[in-house]
Amino acid sequence: MTIDLDRIRKDTPSLAEYAHLIASGASIMPDPVLSAVTDHLALEARLGGYEAHHEAAAELDGVYSTVADFVGAKPQEIALVENATVAWCLAFYSLELNKGDRVLTCQSEYAANYVAFLQRAKRDGIIIDVIPNDEFGAIDVTAAEEMISDRTALIAITWIPTNGGLVNPAAAMGDIAQRHKIPYLLDACQAVGQMPVSVSELKCDFLSATGRKFLRGPRGTGFLYVKESLIETIEPVMIDYFSAPWVSKDQYKLRNDARRFENWENAYALRAGLGAAVKYASDIGIDNIQARAWQLADSLRAKVMDIPGSEIKDLGSVQCAIVSFTIEGLDPPTVVTALRKQKIHIGSSDPDSTRLDAESRNLPVMLRAAPHYYNTEDELDRLVEALQTLKNK
Ligand SMILES: Cc1ncc(COP(=O)(O)O)c(C=O)c1O
Repeated sequence: MTIDLDRIRKDTPSLAEYAHLIASGASIMPDPVLSAVTDHLALEARLGGYEAHHEAAAELDGVYSTVADFVGAKPQEIALVENATVAWCLAFYSLELNKGDRVLTCQSEYAANYVAFLQRAKRDGIIIDVIPNDEFGAIDVTAAEEMISDRTALIAITWIPTNGGLVNPAAAMGDIAQRHKIPYLLDACQAVGQMPVSVSELKCDFLSATGRKFLRGPRGTGFLYVKESLIETIEPVMIDYFSAPWVSKDQYKLRNDARRFENWENAYALRAGLGAAVKYASDIGIDNIQARAWQLADSLRAKVMDIPGSEIKDLGSVQCAIVSFTIEGLDPPTVVTALRKQKIHIGSSDPDSTRLDAESRNLPVMLRAAPHYYNTEDELDRLVEALQTLKNK
C-alpha cells in the first residue's frame, strides 16, 4: 500500500483537531478542494460571475473528463448536478414507465429512491418487486433473475446502502440487466470515492453519485452517468433552453449529450471543487483508498465488538468502509451529540432511511461510523474509548 499519510493529513489541517469518522455522511475536504472552490468564488467576486466562468471555462469543462475518467465513462456521458438524489431522480423520472410495468429493486434500497417508486406506483401504476437477500444479506442474484418477467421495465438498486457495510453485487445485476435488455439504474452514492467504479464492468445504463461523501468534494455536488447509446432515446423529465435550445418558434432541440439532464445556471465554484476532489482521489489511487479505508473499517468493527453490549449490524460477506452498530443502553443521537463535544464525528442512521431492511431486521436507530483513508488507528481508539466511557456512565 503506497499512501503518504503524512502528506494527506497535512493537506487537511482539520484532521489535527477532529476525528472525522463519517465519510458516509459528509467527509472532510482537503485543501486543494477548498482552494478550488474559494479561488473560483474569489474570481467571481473580482470579475463577475459570467466573466469568471469565461476565464475558467477550460478548467470547468475539464471536470466532465475528470469525472468520466474516474468511473470509466466518456465526458459526454456525464451530467453534473447538485446531489445524488437529483441525479437519480432525473434518470428515473425521465424513463417511460407505464401501468403494469415492474421495477426490480432491493431490500436495502435508499429511502429517496423508494418514495419515488411509490410515487410512480400511485401516479403511473408501476409495480415494485423487491429482490430477497441471500444468506449473507446481499441481493440474491439467482432470485433476482427468476423474478424477471416481460413486464420488468427497470432494474434499480443501491450498490452500498446508506446504513452499513453491505456491498451489493452490482456487476452481477448488470449482467442480468444486459442479458434481459432491461435498463439498469445504479445508486452508487456510497461507492464512488471508496472503491473502484467502472461503468463498463457494472454494465449499468445510469449511475448516480454525490460529491461530499467518500469523494471528499464540497456539499451540493453530484453527477449522473448516462450510457451514450441511451442518451438520445430519453426525453428528460425537465428541460430548459440549455438542455434543449429553442431553435425555432415552435421547436426545441435536445442536446445530444448527458448534459440534456442539466440546466443553465450552476454553482461553478462547487463544480471546480468536485473536479479537484476527483483529481485528488485519482492521485492517491482508488485501489489504495479502498484498501486503507476498508482495513480501517474492519479494524473499527473489531474494536467496537469489544465494547460490552455492542452489536455490529453490517450485512454481506464483503464489507466496505461503513460501520453500523448499536450499544445497549446508549441512544445514538445522544451519543453523536456527546461525541461532537469531544471533537469526534460520527452519525446515526434512522430506520426510515432504509425502511425495507430496517423492518425486516427490526433495526433500531443505529450508530454509523465511516473511516476513510485519511484516518488513523489512534482515531478509532479515541472513538472506542469515548463510547466505552459513555457506556460506563
Ligand atoms: C445510498 C444513498 N443513495 C443516495 C443518497 C442521497 O445522496 P444525496 O444526499 O447526495 O442526494 C444517499 C445519502 O445518504 C445514500 O446513502
